[in-house]
Amino acid sequence: MYKFDEIMERRGTNCSKWDRLKELYGRDDLLPLWVADMDFSVPPAISSALNKRAEHNIYGYTYCGDEYYEAVIGWMGRRHNWDIKKEWIVFTPGVVPALSLAVKAFTKPGDKVIIQSPVYHPFYDVIRNNGRYIMTNPLIYKDGKYTMDYDDLEEKIDSRTKILFLCNPHNPVGRVWTKKELTRLGEICLKNDIIIVSDEIHSDIIYRDYNHTVMANISPKIRENCIVCTAPSKTFNIAGLQVSNIIIPNDKLRNRYEIEFENSRISGPNIFGIEALIAAYNNSEDWLDELLVYLEGNRDYFINFINKRIPKIKTIKPEGTYLMWIDCSELNMNSAQLRDFFVNKCRLALNDGEMFGKEGQIFQRVNIGCPRIILEEALIRIESEVNCL
Ligand SMILES: Cc1ncc(COP(=O)(O)O)c(C=O)c1O
Repeated sequence: MYKFDEIMERRGTNCSKWDRLKELYGRDDLLPLWVADMDFSVPPAISSALNKRAEHNIYGYTYCGDEYYEAVIGWMGRRHNWDIKKEWIVFTPGVVPALSLAVKAFTKPGDKVIIQSPVYHPFYDVIRNNGRYIMTNPLIYKDGKYTMDYDDLEEKIDSRTKILFLCNPHNPVGRVWTKKELTRLGEICLKNDIIIVSDEIHSDIIYRDYNHTVMANISPKIRENCIVCTAPSKTFNIAGLQVSNIIIPNDKLRNRYEIEFENSRISGPNIFGIEALIAAYNNSEDWLDELLVYLEGNRDYFINFINKRIPKIKTIKPEGTYLMWIDCSELNMNSAQLRDFFVNKCRLALNDGEMFGKEGQIFQRVNIGCPRIILEEALIRIESEVNCL
C-alpha cells in the first residue's frame, strides 16, 4: 500500500545525504548510500500531525506531556515486550548526545569505556572528546559472521573500566544479538561493576527470523545496571527532528544522568519532534510492518546480486538495520584506494569501513533504505567497475 518504490527528490532541502556530496566526497554526481536515513516519505500519520501543528503558527517552548510518555510506554510494551514506567524515561534530543552525557555522568576523566569494534564512529568521539579512554573489545569475524569476544573482554577489564557501550542491534555489522549472547555479556558487566549503555536506536528494524532483546529486559539485576537508548528516528525516518528517549530504570543512575543533562544546558524537545513521536508510535505501525518487508526485499536483492554477479565482494547478511556491511578484501585495495574506487569509479557515496575502526579497513557500509531501483543502479555501477579491474 505504501509507495516505497517512489523516488523522492531530496536535493535542495539541505539534506545531508544528497546536498553535501561535493563538500564531503569531492563531487556531486554520486548516488548517496551513506548516512543512516532513508529516502522514503514518512508515514501519513506523521505528516498530517506535523502539518496540523504547523498551522497553529506559534512555536514557543514546549515539554513532553502525558500523551508523549504513554506513546513511548505503549511502543516499548507492544513492540519490545518491555513494561516501562513513565519516570524511567528521560527525553534527550538525540542518542549521540545521550552517549556523551552518560560518559560524563558515569565516569571520571581517565576512566575507560568499552566498545565492540568495528562500531558506529561517534562512540569513539564521545569517549575521546570527554577525556576518557577507549577500550576496544573487537568483535570476532569468522566465516562471514560476527560474534562477541568474551575472553578478550574479561582479560582487558581493569579497575578503571566503568562503562560498556553496546550497539544492539549492531551498526555496522547488522547483528541482532541473541538473548544468550546478551546474558553472557550482561553477567560479565555485573561481575565487574561496569554499567551497560545499550544503544538500541536500530531495534525496530529487525528482519524475519530474528528477535530484538532489550538489554535491560533480561533480568532484574541487569535492568538495574543498564541505560537503554531508544528513538523513533531511524524507524520512521525522522532523524532531523532530534527525538530520543533514554530509559533508565535505576533511580540512582537516572538521577546522575539527569544532573548531567541539566548541567549541560542541552535544549529540551522541539514541538515537531513531540508531535512526530506520538503519531509514529500510536498510528504508524502498519507503515513500519510494510517497510520491514520492503527492506528485507532490498536486503535479499542486494545479497543475491552480489553473490551472482560480483562474487569478489562478500556481503554480511544483516539480521537487522538497513545497513549492509560488505567485505571488499578480494579487491586488494587499501582503505584510501577503496574510497577512490567507489567514489570516482563507481560514483557512489558509501561509508568507508575504516571510520568504524581499524577492523573495518577493507569494508564499506551501504545504506539500503532507498527505492530498489536506486540499489539496482548502484549495484550495476559496482559490477561494471569491478569487471574492469
Ligand atoms: C548506533 C547509532 N546510534 C546513534 C545514532 C544517531 O543518533 P542521533 O541522531 O539520535 O544522535 C545512529 C545513527 O546512525 C546510530 O547508528
